Amino acid sequence: MATPVDRLFVHCKQLVTLADGPATGPRRGEAMRALGVVEDGAIAVKDGRIVATGATDAIARDYAAKEELDLSGFVVMPGFVDCHTHPVFAATREREFHMRCQGADYMAIAQKGGGILSSMRSVRAASLQELTDVTRERLWGFLQNGTTTVEAKTGYGLSLADEEKSLIALRDAMVDVPLRVSRTFLGAHEFPPEYREDREAYVRLLCDEMIPRLAKLADSCDVFAEPGVFDRVQSLRILSAARAEGLRLRMHADELQPMGGAELAVELRADSADHLGKISEQGIAAMAGSDTTAVLLPGTGFFLGKDIYAPARRMIEAGCAVAIATDFNPGSCHTQSMTLIHTLACVKLKMHPQEAIVASTINAAFSLQLDGEVGTLHAGKRADFVALDIPSWEAIGYAFGGNPVAMTIRDGDPVCINASDRSPDPFVMRRGGGE
Ligand code: NIG
Ligand code: FE
Repeated sequence: MATPVDRLFVHCKQLVTLADGPATGPRRGEAMRALGVVEDGAIAVKDGRIVATGATDAIARDYAAKEELDLSGFVVMPGFVDCHTHPVFAATREREFHMRCQGADYMAIAQKGGGILSSMRSVRAASLQELTDVTRERLWGFLQNGTTTVEAKTGYGLSLADEEKSLIALRDAMVDVPLRVSRTFLGAHEFPPEYREDREAYVRLLCDEMIPRLAKLADSCDVFAEPGVFDRVQSLRILSAARAEGLRLRMHADELQPMGGAELAVELRADSADHLGKISEQGIAAMAGSDTTAVLLPGTGFFLGKDIYAPARRMIEAGCAVAIATDFNPGSCHTQSMTLIHTLACVKLKMHPQEAIVASTINAAFSLQLDGEVGTLHAGKRADFVALDIPSWEAIGYAFGGNPVAMTIRDGDPVCINASDRSPDPFVMRRGGGE
């Protein structure tokens, strides 16, 4: 007797389950290469969760469902977990992009009032409704790119009122979009102009007022720890205040200049240390012996034109838990495409495609403490996955510059269908028009 389920997804050309390894916890070293690929694979789903995966023959024999979706021709894998993004901004900053292309430096533009402060001005000028509307559009953009879980930071308000507005905009935008969102308060993204001459006062404002008042609107707190922005002591104070309010910790660390950021993140048992273009050997060793995930953001080194990239190979070989993410933001990396990040992870970080898959799914989920729910296709987890129009899993980062995502499925529901030449009804969708 076949077991009844809600839905079957069948005939996936390849199904990348990641079920060869454990369901939870980060994957390190050699374990980043085990994908658990099933040819002609199928997924049985009930109540939004995975009941079983396997070969279509076996799943179709063991399970029965009223609804069956034929994914012939598509490579199916867990939805991307984009664990570092900054989507709560108002105006875009394409002029700075062109200034950088003409030779201007990112930090020099920032010091002249551009950069993060230019985004601060447009966020402060935007109404809550305007900020909510643009944020909502960007959350849909993640789904279009195959991302089913995202970490979203604020950090362009830089005052109590404007950071609160940013967190509320994010909360209100999330309600309308079937994307899993982990919210991060990043009031310590930059010093606002009114505190430039009295930085200590801004750190006090963050620790004594902003964090206690806003903690209930966020899951985590992040700091841009970088020489010239938040130093080690300031970062430590801010993150300690956040922990005292029950927030989990993340850090922008050792991005452009080394400052022991990775070591500090490990000391604080932060969930992640991110960027790490200038991580030290001690930093690598500290991270390797910890559960702090190294979130690498190759899109930023690329888009800033600085060609500063984290030493991913050394980090993987040392045993760090490595994740990759977009860093989507209006300044240093304006892309929501995790498949482009796969390309850059392979070309610039010299990661193997298998490692990039693990880094963009289960390891990223671990960094958000969501590995029990998403990141692999183990039975019991949320049925979050993506159908890619590519010949094999090896081609994820290969056909770069376009969007190979045909369909994004969240909790077993197709929530985003990109393919215009396909049937608008996902339950009769087939690749091409053949079959
Ligand atoms: O992660 N490093 C700081 N924050 C962002 C850039 C933000 C911006 O330029 O708007 C980053 O790269
Ligand atoms: Fe960032």
